[in-house]
Amino acid sequence: MNISEAIRKRHSCRSFTGEAMPEDIADGLRKRITSADGLMLIDGSNGRVGTYGIVSGSVCSIALVGDGTKPEFMKTAGDAEEIVLWLTEQGIGSVWLGGTFKVSGVEEHIPAVIALGVPAKKMRLVDRIMHRAISSDTRKPFDELFKASAGGFGEYREPLEMMRLAPSAKNVQPWRAYVDGDTVHFYSTTDNRYTYIDMGIALRHFTLTTPAGIFVDDTSAPAVFPAARYLTSWKKK
Ligand SMILES: Cc1cc2nc3c(=O)[nH]c(=O)nc-3n(C[C@H](O)[C@H](O)[C@H](O)COP(=O)(O)O)c2cc1C
Repeated sequence: MNISEAIRKRHSCRSFTGEAMPEDIADGLRKRITSADGLMLIDGSNGRVGTYGIVSGSVCSIALVGDGTKPEFMKTAGDAEEIVLWLTEQGIGSVWLGGTFKVSGVEEHIPAVIALGVPAKKMRLVDRIMHRAISSDTRKPFDELFKASAGGFGEYREPLEMMRLAPSAKNVQPWRAYVDGDTVHFYSTTDNRYTYIDMGIALRHFTLTTPAGIFVDDTSAPAVFPAARYLTSWKKK
């Protein structure tokens, strides 16, 4: 499975079997967590642990440690999502949970955790109801989220489609982008405790599937989305 397939396959899973992950996957997970800054492996997150939804049978979770209201946190969220996509390829289920979490011995904030486990074959009724209530399966249309100058989307169409499929708190999908030749300007429609987490996840979907480039601050980025604020730009190398 390649990364685009993993992005398409990933969906939030809130019903797990309670079984341990296969040892080679657990080992790969521990290695990835150790080599990332701001991520910790903790016990499973079960019950009403996020701000909505109920999780059962998760065996461990990834905790994101740090100040989620700072732009730097986009990297932490992106690193965590990259691990989620790798776990998706391995058949492991996951769900991002936002809130205020406490882990004994950790003084810093934990604004999000990701519950993990072996997915149950059937969704519980509570999952199905919640899934429908926040329209988890749907995403806003491409043309509402992304605009381009006269040159069109070019090779950025597919990476933006990958961004469109990203998970976000309450499925709000705050990301917007404007393609101008080799440059893509990114904007967010939200300014809340989840903005940098949602944007970090979505930007990682974009960078994992786009030709090499770098993030820059571009003060000349046009205000093409009236209700969104500018965050950063991607320039092709
Ligand atoms: C930062 C963040 C916080 C989230 N918080 C919760 C939560 O508290 N409870 C929950 O059940 N789902 C939570 N979700 C999962 C979203 O509801 C889900 O990703 C979205 O509805 C899209 O559905 P999908 O992941 O199945 O594509 C969160 C997702 C993100 C990215």
